[in-house]
Amino acid sequence: MVEKTKACVLISGNGTNLGSLIKNSRNYNFPIKIELVISNNENARGIKLAKKYSIPYKFISSSSIKSFERNTLFEIKKRKIKFLCLAGFMKVLSKNFINSFGYKIINIHPSLLPKYKGLNTHKRVLKNNEKYSGCTVHYVTSRLDSGKIISQKKIKIKKNETEKSLEKRILTQEHKLYSKSIISLFK
Ligand code: GRF
Repeated sequence: MVEKTKACVLISGNGTNLGSLIKNSRNYNFPIKIELVISNNENARGIKLAKKYSIPYKFISSSSIKSFERNTLFEIKKRKIKFLCLAGFMKVLSKNFINSFGYKIINIHPSLLPKYKGLNTHKRVLKNNEKYSGCTVHYVTSRLDSGKIISQKKIKIKKNETEKSLEKRILTQEHKLYSKSIISLFK
């Protein structure tokens, strides 16, 4: 059995990326073990997944980002977490938090970064008549969606593509790309 790195996933919403990470991380050779899920949204659907798979989870309010970061650092240090994955986590982490953690923090974003940082990516991509879109896994810095790119998956936009259809097609790719990227980081 490979010695797995203890990881925590930060979420705010549906948690479909969390779901695919949980499933893949149960694989014998997967390099990380998800030991904790933290949500800044008490009603995030992703919390149900943590419950379903018996993964410890915490709701930590982010109404003050300072106290969110302080409480999160406390929880992850307590559990000796050495890898953080952001999966649909809707807050920007501070430099101070990133430095205090001291290990890798990665995120997945539904566009071909550096294009379309931030929210409503699919809407903006379609409005600009882009031929391609996709998803990106990147390191997290204190600047939104701006850290070094780890990997990307590009897909061709179809005729009659809608925001919904694009979101669905890209999300399917995200689920594959996130795990593949984690494997590549531990090689
Ligand atoms: C994904 O598109 C992710 O890239 C973005 O937010 C969405 C979250 O989806 N950051 P989910 O919560 O993993 O289902």
